[in-house]
Amino acid sequence: MSSGQKMNLQGDRRPFVIGLLAFLFAGMIAILSGSAVRSLHAADAPKSTKDGVYSADQAKRGKDAYSQNCSSCHMDDLSGSGQAPPLAGDTFMDDWGGHTLGELNDTIQNTMPLDKPGSLSPSDALDILTYILQANSFPTGKTDLKGDSNTLKGIVISTK
Ligand code: HEC
Repeated sequence: MSSGQKMNLQGDRRPFVIGLLAFLFAGMIAILSGSAVRSLHAADAPKSTKDGVYSADQAKRGKDAYSQNCSSCHMDDLSGSGQAPPLAGDTFMDDWGGHTLGELNDTIQNTMPLDKPGSLSPSDALDILTYILQANSFPTGKTDLKGDSNTLKGIVISTK
C-alpha cells in the first residue's frame, strides 16, 4: 500500500462519520419529538361525562333550578311532554351522545326556557346541566363542573 492510497482511505471515512453523526442526531430528534407528541396527547385526551366531572351538591342545586325553570314542560322526571323532548334516557342520549357539554350548555343558555330564552344565569344553566347529567346516570366527582367554555368544550357526552 502506498502512502497515497492510505491518505485516500482516510479521506473516504469522513462521509461515513458524518453520516453516522447525522443518523444519531436524527434518532435523538425522533425520540425527543416522540415523547413531546405523547405528552401532548396525554394533555389533550378528551374527557367524557363518565369521568366524574360534576359534584353531587351542584346537581342538587341544579334540581331546584330545574323545578323552577324547566319541569313545567320537560316534567319533573325529565321525561318530556308535548313538543318538549325528554332530557334523560335513550332518546336524549341518541340526540346528544358524542356532542360536548359546551354545545349542550349553549343550547340551554341560549334557547331555554323556551318561553324566556336567555333568562337563566350562567351558574343556574350550568347547575341544571349537571342535574341532567345525573339524571342520565353519569357519576359525580369531588368538584363542581367549571363553566368556562374551554372546560365545557373538552368534555364529551359519552354514549353508554
Ligand atoms: C315552555 C316550555 C319549555 C320550557 C319551560 C323549557 N323547555 Fe326545553 N324545550 C322545549 C321544547 C318545545 C323543545 C323542543 C324544541 C326546540 O328544541 O326548540 C325543547 C328543547 C330542549 C332541549 C333540546 C333537547 C334535544 O334533545 O334536542 C334542551 C336541552 C332543553 N329543552 C332544556 C331545557 C332546560 C334545561 C329548561 C329549563 C331551563 C327548559 N328546557 C325549559 C320546551 C321547554
